[in-house]
Amino acid sequence: MKLTLKIWRQANATAQGAMHTYDIDGVSGDMSFLEMLDVLNEDLIAKGEEPVAFDSDCREGICGTCGLMINGQAHGPEVTTTCQLHMRSFKDGDEIVIEPWRSDAFPVIKDLCVDRGAFDRIIQAGGYISVNTGSAPEAHSVPVPRDDAMRAFNVATCIGCGACVAACPNGSASLFMGAKVTHLGELPQGQPERDNRVVNMVAQHDAEGFGGCTNIGECTAACPKEIPLDVISRLNWDLHAAMRHGL
Ligand code: SF4
Ligand code: FES
Repeated sequence: MKLTLKIWRQANATAQGAMHTYDIDGVSGDMSFLEMLDVLNEDLIAKGEEPVAFDSDCREGICGTCGLMINGQAHGPEVTTTCQLHMRSFKDGDEIVIEPWRSDAFPVIKDLCVDRGAFDRIIQAGGYISVNTGSAPEAHSVPVPRDDAMRAFNVATCIGCGACVAACPNGSASLFMGAKVTHLGELPQGQPERDNRVVNMVAQHDAEGFGGCTNIGECTAACPKEIPLDVISRLNWDLHAAMRHGL
């Protein structure tokens, strides 16, 4: 395949960025999207040009570091991560526009790399449980109903990629927070800190500059792990409960 790539280039966090156009040839449908960018970068390096900076780590859809806006869609045209998107989703002659996540709370570091430290600070604010260290407790000592365990497991698949924020017209991280609050709130271990968790996470979310949720639903459509929209209802339910409890 021959492709035309229009890629956001930005030298650093404060530099003025711009779209640059690159032609690339010999792209196989079996390449992942990131492998296609690797090929482009090998060409650029061979020509003595600066390669395109982009993030990746596991390249297996697990770590959440690889997100890109591809033709205006977070992670591109398939429900998967950018690293698991394959070039067979495109055709010969296509023009592909590649941008970093667009959100005030995710500032661009360089080219396609953004700083998603805001997610880490939201987790530090409440996305955890406190436990006494020591040997693992007997599993049967904390029974969890099957449906609760399945719900907790399903929403725990959120990988913190940030696609929900990039897709949301308000730049809200409510789906991400809802996944964490629901995951821990379904389990007995998550109950002692349940009220403080949601209050502190929402306060940090707002302080980071994320927007509010207006139930548009672009987040869940873009989510590579198919986190359902009703986790945001759970987030709001828990927040109201915490406020009724005086927090
Ligand atoms: S909710 Fe989905 S889109 Fe948002 S960070 Fe988690 S995995 Fe990514
Ligand atoms: S590189 Fe880890 S999810 Fe894509």
